[in-house]
Amino acid sequence: MNDYIKLGDEYLLHAYNRYPIVLERGDGVKLYDDKGKEYLDFAAGIAVYALGYGNREFNDALKAQIDKIMHTSNLYYNEPACEASREVCRITGMDRVFFTNSGTEAIEGAIKTARKYAFLKDGTTDHNIISMEHSFHGRSMGALSVTGNAHYREAFEPGIGNVRFADYNDLASVEKLVDDKTCAVIMETVQGEGGIHPAEEDFIKGVRKLCDEKGMLLILDEIQCGMGRTGYMFAFEKYGVRPDIVTIAKALGNGVPVGAFAVTKDVADNSIVPGDHGTTYGGNPFACAAVTEVIRQFESRDIVGHVKALTPVLEKALDDLASSHDIVVEHRGVGFMRALELKVPCADVIKKAQEEGLLIISAGANTLRLVPPLIIEEDDIERMKNLLDKALG
Ligand SMILES: Cc1ncc(COP(=O)(O)O)c(C=O)c1O
Repeated sequence: MNDYIKLGDEYLLHAYNRYPIVLERGDGVKLYDDKGKEYLDFAAGIAVYALGYGNREFNDALKAQIDKIMHTSNLYYNEPACEASREVCRITGMDRVFFTNSGTEAIEGAIKTARKYAFLKDGTTDHNIISMEHSFHGRSMGALSVTGNAHYREAFEPGIGNVRFADYNDLASVEKLVDDKTCAVIMETVQGEGGIHPAEEDFIKGVRKLCDEKGMLLILDEIQCGMGRTGYMFAFEKYGVRPDIVTIAKALGNGVPVGAFAVTKDVADNSIVPGDHGTTYGGNPFACAAVTEVIRQFESRDIVGHVKALTPVLEKALDDLASSHDIVVEHRGVGFMRALELKVPCADVIKKAQEEGLLIISAGANTLRLVPPLIIEEDDIERMKNLLDKALG
């Protein structure tokens, strides 16, 4: 194990503080390191591996596609991309989709689409975008510019410019920032990195109404909270709100790097045209075969129904932990997207949990984040509770 840690520390750019664990393989909701130690995974590669590790049908679908063709470029059509585009439009209720290689790139595409939409309306380019404090949308210059964490942006200013930050769940703070040049509001339907904070119903409905009144586009970032995690295929379904643009990634590929932004017909017809946007890899046959197989399994296994059914069990387990440990300030969350806010920094608890054989992550310095694979069962929740109980103790 130490050899790989030494190797990585020597050659990987030090962009991360990695835990000293070398993960080697997975099986269902369990991961194994190179010493054979087993971990119960309540992190899922940061809300990615929804359908679990070693998923035979998923792996077979990928292998079959590898044997046919993995990449063609977007200069031609390919079967998996065409099928996956129909499926993503069907599950999002959107009309057209652009495939990307990551969540960040989905955000980039959404920002460009909103700016182009506004440009075609009035011929000017000085439009602004309203985003939310404590939001997270990614690390590239555009996505970083709309990320509501000043610390992440500080060394990389100036960003794309013309971005204003409102307070999440405070409609008046959004209203105050709107002017004739505001082209879009971007927000997570449930803030993830910011500490697992769901949108309040009045807020998200109010923002939708404001966007309609002022001719602004509503971009909902469902990269983390979408694809079943909240007990809905997309978190916005719960509120009966339809975005103009939705961004997706993470569980969409179940480990294959793929993201997407999907748009309404109005946006599609009045924004991006050939030459405006592109990517070499985006929507390649390999990634899109993954997308279609993920959606097929979500539906054939009723993953959303499973999350809904088990949410009270997970909720109760974490409520119990919160009430039996003084260092827990509060338990909050929705579906399988959960947080325990602590009175103390959570790094030690995360390390202790790893020693016990449980993988969890953080969402801010004091908040533990649990975003397990969506296929966990009751006994996995019970085991997580026992392990986390020890770690908190
Ligand atoms: C809500 C949200 N948006 C965007 C991103 C960026 O996605 P990616 O890391 O795939 O580029 C993330 C990643 O954590 C996210 O949680």
